[in-house]
Amino acid sequence: METASLQEQSSDLEEGFTAGRRFMIRVNGVMHDVSKDDPRTPLAPYLHFMLQLCGTKTMCFECSCGICAVLLEYDDPENLGNRITKPINSCLFPIGSLLSLKNHQVTTIEALGSVKKGLHPIQKRLADYNGSQCGFCSPGFVIQMYGLLKNNQTPSAQEVEDYFDGNVCRCTGYRPILDAMKSFATDSDPSLRGSLIDIEDLMICSKTKQLCNQSPLDEVEHLIGAAGGSMGLLYSKFGIKWYQPRTLTQLHQIMHNSREVKLINGDTSKGVYKGIYYKVYIDVKGVPDLYNVTMEPGGLKVWSNVTLSSLIDYLKQYSDQSPSYNVMAHYLLKVANRPVRNVAGWAGNLMLKYEHREFLSDVFVAFEAAGAKLTISDICESNTYTPMEFLDVNMQGKILLCVDIPKLAKDEKMNIYKVMSQTQNTQAYVSAGFRVQLGVSDTWENEQLIESISMVYIGINRNFIHAFATEKYLQGKDITSICTLKGALSTLDKEVIPDDGNPLFASATYRKSLTLGLFYKFYLSLLSEDIVSPCNWSAQFSLVRPISTGKRIYSSRPEKYPLTKPMPKLNAYQQTSGETQYVNDILPLPNELFSAFTLSEEGNATISSIDITAAMEVPGAAAVYLAKDIPGSNTFMPPPHEVEEILSSGPVLYAGQPVALCVAVSQHRALEMVERVKVTYKDQQPPIVTLEDAIEKKSFYPPPGKELLVGDPIGAISVSPCKIEGEVRAGEQYHFHMETQICRCVPTENGLDVQASSQWLDFAQQAISGAIGVPLKEVNITAKHLGGAYGAKVNRANLVACGAAVAATLLHRPVQCIMDLTSNMKAIGKRHGYIVKYKVGFNEDGTLNGVIITYYCNNGSSPNDHEAGQYFAYSDNAYKCKNWQLIPVAVKTNLAAHTWCRAPGSMPNIFVIETILEHVAKFLSLDPIRVKQKNLYAQGDTTPMGFVLPYCSIQELYKSQLTKVDVAGRLQAIKKFNADNSWKKKGLAVVPLKYCLYWTEGRFLCTVSIFASDGSVIVTHGGVEIGQGLNTKVAQVCAYVLGIPVNLISINPTTTINSPNSGTTGRSISSELNCLGVRNCCEILRERINPVKRMLPPGTLWKDLVAACFKCKVNLTAQSWVWPDPQPRDAPQYNSYGVTVAEAEIDVLTGENQINQVDILFDCGESLNPDIDIGQVEGAFVMGMGYWLMEKMIYNPKTGEVLNAGTWDYKIPFSKSIPINFNIELLKNAPNPMGVLRSKASGEPPQCMSCATLFAVKRAIEAARQDVGQDTYFPLSGPATVDVIQTSCLVDYRNFSI
Ligand SMILES: Cc1cc2nc3c(=O)[nH]c(=O)nc-3n(C[C@H](O)[C@H](O)[C@H](O)COP(=O)(O)OP(=O)(O)OC[C@H]3O[C@@H](n4cnc5c(N)ncnc54)[C@H](O)[C@@H]3O)c2cc1C
Ligand code: FES
Ligand code: FES
Repeated sequence: METASLQEQSSDLEEGFTAGRRFMIRVNGVMHDVSKDDPRTPLAPYLHFMLQLCGTKTMCFECSCGICAVLLEYDDPENLGNRITKPINSCLFPIGSLLSLKNHQVTTIEALGSVKKGLHPIQKRLADYNGSQCGFCSPGFVIQMYGLLKNNQTPSAQEVEDYFDGNVCRCTGYRPILDAMKSFATDSDPSLRGSLIDIEDLMICSKTKQLCNQSPLDEVEHLIGAAGGSMGLLYSKFGIKWYQPRTLTQLHQIMHNSREVKLINGDTSKGVYKGIYYKVYIDVKGVPDLYNVTMEPGGLKVWSNVTLSSLIDYLKQYSDQSPSYNVMAHYLLKVANRPVRNVAGWAGNLMLKYEHREFLSDVFVAFEAAGAKLTISDICESNTYTPMEFLDVNMQGKILLCVDIPKLAKDEKMNIYKVMSQTQNTQAYVSAGFRVQLGVSDTWENEQLIESISMVYIGINRNFIHAFATEKYLQGKDITSICTLKGALSTLDKEVIPDDGNPLFASATYRKSLTLGLFYKFYLSLLSEDIVSPCNWSAQFSLVRPISTGKRIYSSRPEKYPLTKPMPKLNAYQQTSGETQYVNDILPLPNELFSAFTLSEEGNATISSIDITAAMEVPGAAAVYLAKDIPGSNTFMPPPHEVEEILSSGPVLYAGQPVALCVAVSQHRALEMVERVKVTYKDQQPPIVTLEDAIEKKSFYPPPGKELLVGDPIGAISVSPCKIEGEVRAGEQYHFHMETQICRCVPTENGLDVQASSQWLDFAQQAISGAIGVPLKEVNITAKHLGGAYGAKVNRANLVACGAAVAATLLHRPVQCIMDLTSNMKAIGKRHGYIVKYKVGFNEDGTLNGVIITYYCNNGSSPNDHEAGQYFAYSDNAYKCKNWQLIPVAVKTNLAAHTWCRAPGSMPNIFVIETILEHVAKFLSLDPIRVKQKNLYAQGDTTPMGFVLPYCSIQELYKSQLTKVDVAGRLQAIKKFNADNSWKKKGLAVVPLKYCLYWTEGRFLCTVSIFASDGSVIVTHGGVEIGQGLNTKVAQVCAYVLGIPVNLISINPTTTINSPNSGTTGRSISSELNCLGVRNCCEILRERINPVKRMLPPGTLWKDLVAACFKCKVNLTAQSWVWPDPQPRDAPQYNSYGVTVAEAEIDVLTGENQINQVDILFDCGESLNPDIDIGQVEGAFVMGMGYWLMEKMIYNPKTGEVLNAGTWDYKIPFSKSIPINFNIELLKNAPNPMGVLRSKASGEPPQCMSCATLFAVKRAIEAARQDVGQDTYFPLSGPATVDVIQTSCLVDYRNFSI
């Protein structure tokens, strides 16, 4: 939305006309006139900028993260008198579309409750259950739940779990969110302390069924198509026409007379195919006839405005009429996510397939498999087609009118399968729908003949729909004969030729194997159990995921409260009520501008020219800046770092590098400008995209860390009885902070006020001061709340900070620089990827003798955020060996410079040594759990870094965890399961942890001030609250040391004024070091206060005590500069220990998998706040699971451009990706003598044990390989995605049998 576009709008008004006098939309009970706004404007930015309702957040603008959810209500066009109430995503829904919904009402998070006015029970419970960390996703979850409860006040726990398939949270690991929401369920686990909600709690008026405190709807004058002429023309401006027909005839007439038309139903297709513009928009939602649904003798007839959610409901409602309806409903629940299905129509889905033949349309598969018939009409006639025929109909001037979904005939059977990389909200790798008509043989009693079969696929190639040859082959064949199965598979194998070469698709081999595997599943489902071998029987079924559950075990010390007290985060209520103010929520000043980067499309070239003419023609354009315009140094990495240019001065090092900065009156306009900057290149060279290519070309930086040599590894390996060599990889990971990179700079009389979303203010200050050429004192940075960071905002946040600062300085106006998700994913580097090679020598019992590891670490286009050689302290994990050689290689590629991501270096290094131990065990045919146990450190052992382990307890922890979670018993059960099931396998793995914590790199300035008049306390510190609960822990420590209640304490936002020179918030140590600083401050204050206290009567109130101190001229402010000295010989401050046991189950035929159980035992010392620390463990672990099992960066092999820069192709864990049974125990009675108040860090260490999930999957794969006689070692690199898992199982269709 524009903030400074009034001029522009008035000229638009002159250009055309706006039909009707009042175009009102209703938000939270208030009517707003949108007649002057572009009807295409998505609701989310309208809420944000025009209505200043900032609780609704945005990130993806693809309808795929759920943070923009609002509740939409309107009169049901189909059933008069009914109201429809549903959560929708507001990032794509156009405001013009609301005008066609009768008596509509949009409810945002603000209407539910607030800290001041009183919280809604959902907001309160989410906070109380510790379900918000950074809080950026929280309003979306609250609204989604509100939508569920408005429709169903007594949901079951299953309904609650199923409801969140479109809400993403990167911080929490979902468990506390699901628990909070399930506490509203009728059958929730008694341990969830919630209760059912009543109608008052929902703030719904029992009479009107509307939100309380709002005017009744009948006061609303609703003008559908008012004064819009007979055709319902509502808008004719902004270069478009926007129609809102009210009858089918009108719709046909408009279609007949128009070209370049888009029909708008849900308008979600623009989340899939972006940047397509039309001249004519026709909102069909006002045509009542298109909502009809009738059950006819032949089947269900559904008209084209019916949404996918409603279609699913109807299919369920009529499931007694045909078993296929249930099958279709179940399958369609896998399309997109609930908010999308709530608005998206089946017709729009089919049209996507029509317009983009490669589109993986699930609706198409379902309809074609079911034998549905589509009716297509224009102004003159209507005709009926199969979905396949429809693809060849000329749709110019035509609409999809309705679909007839036939009932299954007697002896007809149908099923549909969708295999995707995740169980929720993901497009298919391959989908397959089968419908078969069976008949009885006249000749043989037991024969069952296939009279006809329909086999429909998507995901093979753009033209492959039916497996015609196999369909033909099967006709008349006996289904019970193995020959039929074998013959069909061999025919299918021949006719399926998947296209290959699109890096975004899974491999052709995998997709082909899926087509065969899915057919096999269907085939088995047709047979009776008595003729199928018991070990094949389970092949036909999908993995079953029960409701997730788990235990949290910890101890606390009430005598020390508020220290060690499990309590919600200080600002949790503001987060869940949407009141927390992130940078983007600061209301723009009247002259504020927005900026965005144009990114290079070449990966290794020199800029030849940049033409900004077209960009400057965009209405509202303010400026385009190039490298030459930067007033100071053109780098966002101040010295002594290597230069990383803010804007390329000529050389282009990677595709995605910023080359120009576009500034405009709105973010939308700035993005429009970005597209119009024309860049030409010269001297194009083939970029180095892969690590393999770089290694081959020896494209290396000087490694920042030295090789580590301990003992004589070469000698030790050569004399060892057993030796292995191997190679394994760990991929890259996008941080996926829900708040993308953002910064706002406001010129003031003293310089520049900066609101940054940065983990390191001091460094951002240096970068800005260098870029605009002013002293540091003129740059004042504040970081209040960050919507996630995970390392991406340590120094990469400097890029947007410098962009905004340069533009603000040159234009003397406030400027925001915001990265949209795509730019964020293209311009900014990820977690470093690795190829690692190793040689190991060991004894026959698995004892390690010598280890040589070479780490090839992908740094991308700059070595600034180096890892190579910096993290050797983690290379041994928990295992002792006398001889080590660790060799770092920093690899240079033409990708965005990679950067630190939660548990940098330690994650891959621990994975590598775990892989080595697994390899050793396999070589010796020993149980890896025992081989690991054999090599564990004991107290007093020395690590390769030369540090003695004074408090090492890993052997005891390992042993006790194995017993506690009954590893032996479960391994037996798994063995039996694997023997009984050929195509489902389970595996269990154990990963121990030793994690070194170093304090030396942390430096923070902390200040505690007591106000003499009322005794309240204000704390400032140099850390940044990024959702990790830093402020809460600091307040607990402050309260404990001063002996006052927590609610007397406030933590002020971090600024470069109150905490100059502070270091980065990261490495898990910021919470404890700031707690240390605040403890120091409070002890100083206590020292000053105590003499006065001794003069006062015992029991004097705190308020009176500080007043007395003031009178005695006591300084009530204390400061502490924390910058710990290194331990002797640079040893870590302390080590954290832990053990994780993970159990996985896989579907061998598809590679789909689930983590059935995870048990984590983690040593957090004496946790300062167990709620927060358990939240960190869960969040870190699930983020790690994403890294090892799901998240894969895909680059264009020719340019290096990120191809999956968005939510469509890059998937992080969803709420149903987490372990089904997720148990966490914080080690009891484990005070840390080397920590702050006996605590230990929790932010990163647990993440390093998440590779246990990959190894559990690997064990399951091994079981599958054993079945085909391939019981040998194989490496499993991360991410082990569904396709990798299936391929590793060595599935061969020739082994399929009955
Ligand atoms: C996050 C996300 C995830 C998704 N995941 C999946 C998935 O897993 N599987 C899958 O199959 N799809 C998926 N989709 C696609 C989704 O199903 C479609 O976007 C949706 O069904 C389109 O319906 P709509 O009403 O929003 O169409 P719109 O966007 O309103 O319209 C789409 C097109 O259809 C045309 N159109 C609409 N109605 C008619 C009509 N009656 N007659 C003729 N033309 C018409 C329009 O002119 C336009 O060209 C996903 C989409 C999103 C955003
Ligand atoms: S911003 Fe709307 S779903 Fe992501
Ligand atoms: S709390 Fe969910 S994304 Fe941060």
